[in-house]
Amino acid sequence: MNTKIIALVGGTGHLGNLIAEEVLAQPDARLRLLVRPASRGKVAHLEAKGAQVVEGELGADEALAAFAVGATTVVSAVQGGPDVIIDGQASLLRAARDAGVRRFIPSDYTLDLFKLPPGQILPSDWRRQFGEAADAERDQVEVVSVLNGSFLDRGVLFDWLRIIDPETQTAYLWGEGEAAVEYTTWADTAKYTAAAALDDEPIGRVLPVAGDRLDFHGLVAAFEKASGKRLRVERRGSLADLDERIAELMERDPQNFLEYLPLMYNRGLLKGEATLPPLMNDRYPWIQPTTVEQYFATQKF
Ligand SMILES: NC(=O)c1ccc[n+]([C@@H]2O[C@H](COP(=O)([O-])OP(=O)(O)OC[C@H]3O[C@@H](n4cnc5c(N)ncnc54)[C@H](OP(=O)(O)O)[C@@H]3O)[C@@H](O)[C@H]2O)c1
Repeated sequence: MNTKIIALVGGTGHLGNLIAEEVLAQPDARLRLLVRPASRGKVAHLEAKGAQVVEGELGADEALAAFAVGATTVVSAVQGGPDVIIDGQASLLRAARDAGVRRFIPSDYTLDLFKLPPGQILPSDWRRQFGEAADAERDQVEVVSVLNGSFLDRGVLFDWLRIIDPETQTAYLWGEGEAAVEYTTWADTAKYTAAAALDDEPIGRVLPVAGDRLDFHGLVAAFEKASGKRLRVERRGSLADLDERIAELMERDPQNFLEYLPLMYNRGLLKGEATLPPLMNDRYPWIQPTTVEQYFATQKF
């Protein structure tokens, strides 16, 4: 069997750890991790399962060269500001190119950020800028963005986006809620990413995959059906009001991202401007992604 080396940066993070476990479960793959020295303890469980660790970080060219050498695919699951997403990932892509790596998967894992108008979701702007800079390398490295819509897990849907608050049994809406967008669990996104990392055939610039496609009212209905509990819908304003609210918060304190980023992601979902192109789930038919209702049915409310 031809063993492939999958080189993953961000393996200490939430999604990265799930991708790491998926890669380790494949018989034809070996996992290599780029880990910052202070974070090494977070991957002890992966090292115990055979993952190789290269200590270093984005921007550290020598470590990146050692990390990329001999790899089939470099996968990024990092999180951070433009220094990490644009500049840091650019240094990683250069190292991948120089090492003759076949494929590079950047840390996107979101809506179709290539369709979003600038300024709608700041972190998507940085990812689009990285994608544009990566164009210069695409003839040497296949750069594939995994696009999965929004994560549908409770930490994202309930705590971060606060679309539904199961405690008070309230769903929060801006606008009419009639735009359908895609939802995928963290776990399924990790499965598709590992499958893409190991894929022998060219994939293309994007890999759109999803567990479900629902509008706001579909989300509410899925919750009610799975939990047996009714939600009260609280309309917070129109989509124009949402734009205004975000602009107001940004003007008041631009550094306080946590105040307005969740609203930006709500805007991305509710406007439906960044829905995914035709899904490619069928490319990996052994992955049967979880729907929103199936996921809610596994939760206690
Ligand atoms: N679609 C959605 O709804 C959705 C929701 C959440 C996240 N996401 C996306 O999923 C991806 C992963 O997010 P996450 O929440 O799993 O991230 P996370 O848990 O915050 O982990 C971030 C990872 O990046 C690493 N990192 C940051 N800067 C680095 C650097 N300079 N050099 C090396 N490693 C560095 C961290 O390493 P240390 O351990 O050393 O800090 C950590 O492993 C991101 O692209 C994020 O935008 C999408």
